[in-house]
Amino acid sequence: MIKMAGRIVCLGIESTAHTFGVGIVKSDGSVLSNVASVYKTKKGWGIIPKDAAEHHKRVKKDVLKKALCKAKLKLEDIDIVSFSQGPGLPLSLRVGMDFVKELSSKTNKPVYGVNHCIAHIEIGMLKTKSKDPVTLYVSGGNTQVIAFTGGRYRCFGETMDIAIGNALDMFARKVGMDYPGGPKIERFAKKGKYVELPYVVKGMDTSFTGIVSEAVRKFKQGAKIEDLCFSLQETCFAMLTEITERALAHTGKDEVLLTGGVAANGRLQQMLKTMCKDRGARFFVVPKEFAGDNGSMIAWTGILSAMSGQMPVSLDKTDIKPRWRTDELDIMWR
Ligand code: ATP
Ligand code: FE2
Repeated sequence: MIKMAGRIVCLGIESTAHTFGVGIVKSDGSVLSNVASVYKTKKGWGIIPKDAAEHHKRVKKDVLKKALCKAKLKLEDIDIVSFSQGPGLPLSLRVGMDFVKELSSKTNKPVYGVNHCIAHIEIGMLKTKSKDPVTLYVSGGNTQVIAFTGGRYRCFGETMDIAIGNALDMFARKVGMDYPGGPKIERFAKKGKYVELPYVVKGMDTSFTGIVSEAVRKFKQGAKIEDLCFSLQETCFAMLTEITERALAHTGKDEVLLTGGVAANGRLQQMLKTMCKDRGARFFVVPKEFAGDNGSMIAWTGILSAMSGQMPVSLDKTDIKPRWRTDELDIMWR
C-alpha cells in the first residue's frame, strides 16, 4: 500500500476517446496542472478510432512535458501514476495504458487503473464540494443518472441507445458542422423557436436516435437550423431533467451534480437548476475546465484509490476495460 503520511502527488493519464490528457493532482485536492490535446475529426466525419489513437501517440510526450512543466515537477517527484482503464475506445485506451507502462518502467511508481465515469463524478464532487449527489453524467459516450448507495455508484437511469453528446454531435455532423457539435448547437439555439420533436422517456431511461432522425428530416425539409437546435436542446434536456428529478425522489438525496462534457451547456444547467430549486435540492455543476475529459480527474481518482488502500495494478497482468461499467466497482473511499 502507498505511504499514508504526508501528501502524495499523482499523475493521471486520460485516453478514452478524443482527448489525450495529463493531470497532476495533490492529495489535498489541489490541481497542479491539467493539460490536454483533443483529436479533431474532419468536417462531416465521426471519430475514426485509428486516427484518434495515432493522434494520442503523436502528442503524448508533449502533453506530459507540458503538464510536468506547469506543475514545476519532474517525473521523479511523482508518487503514483493512474490511467483511465475504461470504458472507452479500445485503440485510444491502449495508447494510455502503453504510455503508463513505459513511464512506470522508467520510474517504478505504483500504477492505479481508474474508471473514467467514476472519475467524472469524483472531480465534480471535489470541485463543487458536493457531498452525496445524484449525478447526471452527460458526455459524448455516456448518459447516466448515478447515485451512491450500498457501497457502489449505482445507475438509476441511462440512455437506451446513443449518449446525449453523441446525439448532438451526430445532428451537427449531418447538418454540416464539425466536432464537437454541442457548443455550436448551443449558440444557434439562442436564436431559435420551438418546433415539435418526439419526447422519449421510458421509465428512467432515455432514447435519442429517433429525435435526431426527426430533426435531420425537418432540416432537409427546410426547417431553420436555429429552430432545430433550440428544439433539440429543449426536448433532450427536458428528458434528462425528468429522469434526474425522479432519481432525486427515489433516493431521497438533496443534491444534484452535473458533470461530463455536456455539463458545459448553459441551457441544461438552467433547467436542472430550476428543477432543484422547486424541490429544495442544491444544484452543482462541474467547472468548465473539468467538465470534458481531462487527466486531472483520473489523477484525483487515482489518489482516492491509493489512499483508500486499493492495490496498484500489476502491469504485466492488467489490461484495458473497454466496457467497464460504473456500478461494477466497490468504492472503498466512501
Ligand atoms: P466520455 O468518454 O465520458 O463519454 P467524451 O469522449 O464524450 O467523454 P467529453 O469531453 O466528456 O468527452 O464530452 C464531449 C462532448 O461534450 C461532445 O459530445 C460535445 O459535443 C459535448 N459538449 C461540449 N460542450 C458542449 C456544450 N456547450 N453544449 C452541449 N454539449 C457540449
Ligand atoms: Fe468522459
